[in-house]
Amino acid sequence: MQGSGRAREGLAMFTQVAIVGAGPAGLFLSHLLHRQGIGSVVLEARTRQEIESTIRAGVLEQGTVDLLDKTGVGARMHREGALHHGINLRFGGVTHRIDLRGLTGRSIMLYAQHEVIRDLVRARLDAGGEMLFEVEEVGIQDAAGPRPRVRFRQGGEAREISCDFVAGCDGFHGVSRWAIPEAARTEYQHVYPFGWFGILVRAPRSSEELIYARHDRGFALVSTRSAEIQRLYFQCDPSEDAERWSDERIWEELHARLATGEGWKLIEGEILQKGVIAMRSFVVEPMQHGRLFLAGDAAHIVPATGAKGMNLAISDVYVLSRALNEFFRNGSTALLDGYTATCLRRVWQAQRFSRWMTALTHRDERDDAFSRRLQLAELEQVTSSQAAATALAENYTGLPIE
Ligand code: DHB
Repeated sequence: MQGSGRAREGLAMFTQVAIVGAGPAGLFLSHLLHRQGIGSVVLEARTRQEIESTIRAGVLEQGTVDLLDKTGVGARMHREGALHHGINLRFGGVTHRIDLRGLTGRSIMLYAQHEVIRDLVRARLDAGGEMLFEVEEVGIQDAAGPRPRVRFRQGGEAREISCDFVAGCDGFHGVSRWAIPEAARTEYQHVYPFGWFGILVRAPRSSEELIYARHDRGFALVSTRSAEIQRLYFQCDPSEDAERWSDERIWEELHARLATGEGWKLIEGEILQKGVIAMRSFVVEPMQHGRLFLAGDAAHIVPATGAKGMNLAISDVYVLSRALNEFFRNGSTALLDGYTATCLRRVWQAQRFSRWMTALTHRDERDDAFSRRLQLAELEQVTSSQAAATALAENYTGLPIE
């Protein structure tokens, strides 16, 4: 029943799927459900302007690109994004290309997460989808029963939506995860002793393809957003205050870590934005409790290296949309019951890869000289063995979405 969520002042609202959070997971789920004729309402704490402008990663796996295409929201991505067929690993001042397409037949798309969000919000609005922004004090009730409810405040007024299912898509700091009783969940976590300092720069591209650089001073990454806007990162202390870094000091650090005798030069430009990102690996198991299903960062976080976060959010909700579709079509809970197991297979593979890519390229102060030497040996292997390079490329471009 389409459009079953109708907000009426003073009346309790009903929808088939209440979706908490308008990030990539929540918005894409709402879009997929709409295509299957299933009604949903999306609740979001921030404003539309905020979700459409927050800078996050920008690498889409081939499978993510295919899903956005297949569901009719890929047109602007193909016009404005850039297909990359390889990435570079730089260490000892020497650059080694990993030929993603040659090794796997697959490529990646550089297209910022907030652009995906803009495309999804537009698609939902065009279809008459219901999204409530600036909601506060969201609470999930009766997740384990047949008729869960989501309570919240909007414009100072207390409201409630009853629903068949709740999708918790509100990120690592969201409330959804807490609706799974502590005794029913297990959390796995690893916090890294470093973060990423990220800058957005107005400058031409320094490199056609991404450069992941390992240096004794720490990791650095050259990425891009467009011909005019570039994205650069370097490893830093997780508690670093970005405002304490002058532009001059930022460029000095990037030049040092990206130095090469190959004639390549980093092109400087106006720094438009700067910030520090923490690095964490996290998984909650199970990803479901009764009629509550977690998806994306609400259920798992990967360290930034390899940019898997949004890709996992998209694959989670693809799995969830198929399971909900089966339930609403014929009452079968088989796919819903298997949601956690299906998602976690892919999630743990992405966890493994993200930690490995991080360890391969970052400086960990706790490492001894032997471990640092081994890190170089591993980089040598990845860049000289076709089998090892293929393993990297398979994971980087994305493992299959079931
Ligand atoms: C970007 C982010 C990443 O974490 C990564 O591995 C590559 C690129 C980015 O923001 O462009």
